[in-house]
Amino acid sequence: MHIGIIGTGYVGLVTGACFAEFGIHVTCADRDEEKINALKRGRIPFYEPGLQALVEKNFKQGRLAFTSKVGEAVNSNLVIFIAVGTPPRGDGSCDLSYVEEVAKEIANHLDGYKVIVTKSTVPVGTGKRIKKIIEENRKNNTHFDVASNPEFLREGAAIEDFMRPNRVVIGSESPQASAILQDLYRPLYLLETPFVTTDIETAELIKYASNSFLATKISFINEMAQLCERLGADVHMVAKGIGLDKRIGPKFLHPGPGFGGSCFPKDTRALVSLAEETGTELKIIKAAIEVNESQKRSMVERIKDALNPLEGKTLAILGLSFKPNTDDVREAPAIDIINALSKKGAVIKAYDPAAVPVAKKLLPNTVKYSKDPYEAAKGADALVIVTEWNEFRNLDLGQIMKLLNQPFFFDLRNIYDPEKMRAAGFKYYSVGRP
Ligand code: UDX
Repeated sequence: MHIGIIGTGYVGLVTGACFAEFGIHVTCADRDEEKINALKRGRIPFYEPGLQALVEKNFKQGRLAFTSKVGEAVNSNLVIFIAVGTPPRGDGSCDLSYVEEVAKEIANHLDGYKVIVTKSTVPVGTGKRIKKIIEENRKNNTHFDVASNPEFLREGAAIEDFMRPNRVVIGSESPQASAILQDLYRPLYLLETPFVTTDIETAELIKYASNSFLATKISFINEMAQLCERLGADVHMVAKGIGLDKRIGPKFLHPGPGFGGSCFPKDTRALVSLAEETGTELKIIKAAIEVNESQKRSMVERIKDALNPLEGKTLAILGLSFKPNTDDVREAPAIDIINALSKKGAVIKAYDPAAVPVAKKLLPNTVKYSKDPYEAAKGADALVIVTEWNEFRNLDLGQIMKLLNQPFFFDLRNIYDPEKMRAAGFKYYSVGRP
């Protein structure tokens, strides 16, 4: 089978490389010529473990091609995935102009029956809108179908999530389109991956509902963490105790400085805004968003209260990306936290294994960057772990203690043992533990 993918951002590129690995011929298109030329030279515009090798291998073996012409990703391909950005507008809703432009271009190049699939997270109703745009812009009456096939890829584990998904969701009105998409995912049948086949609107909503539910789980445990701190209880034991109930499940109950990234913050806001358009108030998701904002503020407050006064104090911040194994800093808690701490007069020395170049663009230019955790800690009044990169899990604590000016240690991801840290002489603070 030959397929086209439009948009070589995170979703498009991972999807393209993984389908090529399944033995399918994939043409990836992006109007950014520079990006396409870089991809042809094997350069990936972002950091994702394993992706570079997968792209190189499939490109060399001739199953993965790159082009800046949308037409080349449409002509002679049976399935066309739309994987362009849907950036948030100021009011929380999604900007669909890229998706709509691409739909028009697809219509211009329609040269036979095709299934046009949205992979980007799009508001409910977009599939129908794409259908209308193509119908209005196609040159003759070429038959086509529209489908929704949302992605559930976690950054940093995207290839694993694509190759071994919990489920594949396919939404379409057409049994033919559903059958073609199921065929495309045939390698996953061997793993007994469940398929959810439904209508387009339901598939589109499943994506938002999944992310909103996961975000709500995180806000729930973060709120419990706040309560634990006041009651002297241990949030990890609460998470374990409730998570063992199979109806609740143990995942996404890890407390921290709040969720970030390109999906949870944007998708929760978009769903609230989408619901408002129908006159529905999503009270639970609104609360999850509000708790997330207050969680970030509370991290700043605890640092400020402990170091009082904060003004003039130097803080070593470890971790800038919104989670480990990515250089993505979109809505990363570290960015808000550093901005707030800087505003309150703290001097910031930051370190991240991958995200410094992108973070620099969002942080005040007074922030200094260190080459490793130890350089950041040297002469600092406190060390703050904001993202749980593996290399922060086994720091040489003796060395850190010697380097710090004062032994304040804020572990916002709870990766160290409170008792051991206190025994080692640190003034140790974590989230939701006595
Ligand atoms: C998420 C979804 O998991 C994925 O299915 C979807 O398609 C895209 O959005 P991603 O944004 O890459 O993936 O990251 P994820 O691992 O889900 O983490 C999101 C945020 O929640 C991170 O900031 C992370 O630190 C935080 N988080 C996650 C917690 O604070 N606690 C947890 O228990 C889990």
